[in-house]
Amino acid sequence: MTASNVHVYSGHALIGHKLALLRDRRTPPARFSQALKEVSLMLLSHATAGLPTREVPVITPCGLTTQRVLSMRVGFAPILRAGAGMIPAAQDLLPGAPIWYLGLYRNEETLQPVRYYDKLQGYPPIDIAFILDPMLATGGSAVLAATRLKQKGVEKVSFVGLIAAPEGLEHLHREHPDVEVHIAALDERLNEVGYIVPGLGDAGDRQNATGANDPTDDPFIPEDIPAELRGQGKLL
Ligand code: PRP
Ligand code: URA
Repeated sequence: MTASNVHVYSGHALIGHKLALLRDRRTPPARFSQALKEVSLMLLSHATAGLPTREVPVITPCGLTTQRVLSMRVGFAPILRAGAGMIPAAQDLLPGAPIWYLGLYRNEETLQPVRYYDKLQGYPPIDIAFILDPMLATGGSAVLAATRLKQKGVEKVSFVGLIAAPEGLEHLHREHPDVEVHIAALDERLNEVGYIVPGLGDAGDRQNATGANDPTDDPFIPEDIPAELRGQGKLL
């Protein structure tokens, strides 16, 4: 399923290039996080291209002109943890835009999203929210995020991420047909434990060096020092 409101940028040379780095299991966390920021900048640039604008007068050093500027209040809703890695790009593009954090994790057995941080009450309103999350797997987290944002009065919700599985896209489209989706790639399927294949692994772990087999940026970070040698300076 690729509905008209699903935009897949896999044909963009630079987005594809960065995605290769992100998918490659040898890419260490710092480089992974940097590439996530870089590709997020490009994805957000596409995702925001059609936002409503209004005309304002501007005085330049050489004269008077008019220029179109945003006419809606835009906010970002990163889904923790992995979506946090997309915040630097959002803030570079639109400094000062509200960030509505949503803490959700998937129960590993049921694959259902569990809400653990959601403190949206009392925030100044926004008109359009961009959900930020690198991965759309079963779609449960994105569906819950969109539901919460709409409950909080957000009129227009879009999803921006790296990789989706067809199952997740269908789920999101079924529950929220109005949500626009902007992704770098649409992959083949989910595996038996709900991971995207080929995907890139666990996007939260890859950024934060918390996966069992994640590569390290720094060869001198101790990984497996025998107990009797720890802290003794006797490794030689
Ligand atoms: C990942 C990812 C999404 C979710 C996608 O988060 O960042 O939020 O899984 O899966 P879904 O489409 O099946 O809901 P995860 O639950 O691993 O939490 P984490 O980022 O805190 O590790
Ligand atoms: N969450 C991830 O981080 N990766 C997947 O492949 C699926 C869910």
